[in-house]
Amino acid sequence: EQDPRIPRIASSIRVVPDFPKKGIMFQDITTLLLDPKAFKDTVDLFVERYTGRDISVVAGVEARGFIFGPPIALAIGAKFIPLRKPRKLPGEVISENYVLEYGTDCLEMHIGAVQPGERALVVDDLIATGGTLCAAMSLLERAGAEVVECACVIELPELKGRERLNGKPLFILMESH
Ligand code: PRP
Repeated sequence: EQDPRIPRIASSIRVVPDFPKKGIMFQDITTLLLDPKAFKDTVDLFVERYTGRDISVVAGVEARGFIFGPPIALAIGAKFIPLRKPRKLPGEVISENYVLEYGTDCLEMHIGAVQPGERALVVDDLIATGGTLCAAMSLLERAGAEVVECACVIELPELKGRERLNGKPLFILMESH
């Protein structure tokens, strides 16, 4: 039932214990990028899902959403919008703060990048607590876009980030434990 490409993609992702700090099992997608077939299969799985869904915007979350988002956007004929950490974008921005384990962070989007009524897909490598995707969706919705779905390569299900997405559909390729 599972697509045969998924186990190969999963095995290309390196898990690094205790990075960046003790107790974290870091999901390192840089090793996926070293395997051109795994990288292409990853992009293709998203492209197959989102082709023909009238999506005109792919928004990628800094930093690793910038790796997977653009090839998906090109293949489905959508524009790409980078959602960046604070003070990186030169134009006028809207900002959304979100809570991390310790402290807060912020994502910014250029005003005018998306028009009201556009249908958007949000892409990142991984959902943990869901705070990042929640902020990303808020930016797009504040600009009047309709978020169709969020898409990630990996979900950490025990953190229940999916429950923070206000019922918005989340598509993942695999769970990690
Ligand atoms: C990681 C990951 C997601 C986010 C998920 O990024 O790439 O963007 O955390 O966590 P959440 O679901 O708990 O919000 P990170 O903060 O490490 O930033 P980076 O990609 O810029 O290194």
